[in-house]
Amino acid sequence: MLPETGRSLSKLSTDDVQKPAQGFPTPAIFTRAARWAVLLITGSARLNKVSTAEWYDEFADFYDSAEQRYRPFRLELINQLRLRPSHTVIDVACGTGQNFELIMRKIGESGQLIGVDYSTGMLKKAKERIERHKWSSQAIHLVYADAVRLNQEMLQTILANNVQRIDRIICSFGLAVAADWEDVFACMWNVLAPGGRCALMDGYLPNPREELRPRLVNTLSRTLTGADVTRRFWEPLKEKCIRYEERSFPYRLGTQLVVASGTKPIDSSR
Ligand SMILES: C[S@@+](CC[C@H](N)C(=O)[O-])C[C@H]1O[C@@H](n2cnc3c(N)ncnc32)[C@H](O)[C@@H]1O
Repeated sequence: MLPETGRSLSKLSTDDVQKPAQGFPTPAIFTRAARWAVLLITGSARLNKVSTAEWYDEFADFYDSAEQRYRPFRLELINQLRLRPSHTVIDVACGTGQNFELIMRKIGESGQLIGVDYSTGMLKKAKERIERHKWSSQAIHLVYADAVRLNQEMLQTILANNVQRIDRIICSFGLAVAADWEDVFACMWNVLAPGGRCALMDGYLPNPREELRPRLVNTLSRTLTGADVTRRFWEPLKEKCIRYEERSFPYRLGTQLVVASGTKPIDSSR
């Protein structure tokens, strides 16, 4: 069972963040290695939400080591979001907050950024990032929640009725991982204000069933990161939005990075 979610991270302390081990291996490293082995052998990272959250708790210490590699793609993602000063933005499955700096640069401290994730390990790293940048607690909020529970009521409760309108919503490398990704997207779309814009980014592997190599790549990706890169994650957005934009970039092992965005119609019955 996931612990109680849908609450602000302010109750979590950064004191208990696990530090990367240094020097000669200690028994703690072996305990950790054993945990990793169990997670990998059972492939549990891809089986259910609890194990995916646990996997990202473990992954959190290493996650930011590849931060620079993805920077150009994040720039494209943020560009497509068309942010303005004072916007309120939700970063769904925000992880360690690698999008935060690019978003904060555009919205400024008069804006509001809400990061949602269900891995406490990743959120603790995000909290450290916020502290490093000295962003005010009025401007950024971290919410520990399953994204499939995201709704206006949850936002109002957590943010003490301070959120008027969600202008922008973003999810990078989250929809390939989320077990019920279509429901997650539906929740994102519901909370986005009419006229607001949504931007998504993830890996995509075309035609995985036709050849052995792509199948192996997807199996590897699911085992190591919990990501199913065969999902056409942009399609629900494309179907509902106006002013759709999409760019793909060749990535590794036959995968592409797809960045897609669109605007919610003012008449948002679709
Ligand atoms: C590959 S990381 C991406 C993190 C970040 N968005 C980025 O661009 O670096 C995937 C993240 O999705 C989170 N996640 C997956 N499913 C989720 C869900 N249903 N609710 C909240 N977070 C979820 C994981 O905890 C993890 O932090």
